[in-house]
Amino acid sequence: MPTHSKQNGAARISVEQARPLGHSILARGFFISFEGGEGVGKTTQIKRLAESLREAGHDVVETREPGGSPGAEAVRHVLLSGAAEALGAKLEAVLFAAARSDHVETVIRPAVEAGKIVLTDRFMDSSRVYQGVTGGLAPDFMTPLERATVNGMVPDLTFMLDIEPEEGLRRAAARRAEGEAADRFEKEQVAIHRKRREAFLEIARNEPDRCVVVDASADAEAIAAEIHSRVMNALRDDAKMVRKKAPAK
Ligand code: TYD
Repeated sequence: MPTHSKQNGAARISVEQARPLGHSILARGFFISFEGGEGVGKTTQIKRLAESLREAGHDVVETREPGGSPGAEAVRHVLLSGAAEALGAKLEAVLFAAARSDHVETVIRPAVEAGKIVLTDRFMDSSRVYQGVTGGLAPDFMTPLERATVNGMVPDLTFMLDIEPEEGLRRAAARRAEGEAADRFEKEQVAIHRKRREAFLEIARNEPDRCVVVDASADAEAIAAEIHSRVMNALRDDAKMVRKKAPAK
């Protein structure tokens, strides 16, 4: 399942080399993305998961898209202000991709290779959904762009936080500071948000080994507990897999 480790065997740390972390052994870094529509509570859940993983002794990096690296943060404003919108969906998609490529190569990959757990607020599925499905860009444009951008760094685990779009938009509006405007994507019609929700769910159906759908309308505490337990199981399974594959000495 963890594509990047398969493609980058050199980065893998053997179990013998791994540091003992609490009661578990993290045999290599781990990459987790959080996806979903507007106002699903990704940021809150990432913060909670990061805290609980740190308490368990893990080294955690929290990051976000668009942005997450100096180069990508420079592009973020252009995208979210809507300045790129009039120039067409392809230009927006390529800007998201440029930002992601920089984020992957300067932040995510080095952290995973150093044995850290990386949590990102949005990643490649956001482009598939926002630029591909609702931006109307065809797979023959989007698929090679994604492959080049991600460059093997596919998340080990993706949480799809799922909520009724009306509720999500209400929460996103409530979260904004007084006087702060909705960003270019929040402003769109509810029908578009509904289409995005379906598109995220479809990705999860097509990639059940990577994706876990979480009911984001539940209590934040309960969601955090579910996410934590899924992550602990995934880390355990991953350590077992690495151990099995580790060459006998
Ligand atoms: P942000 O302010 O980070 O809010 P949130 O993630 O909480 O919704 O806004 C990011 C916006 O950018 C969001 O509306 C989704 C959009 N987006 C894309 O259209 N494509 C992408 O590849 C990414 C990463 C984000």
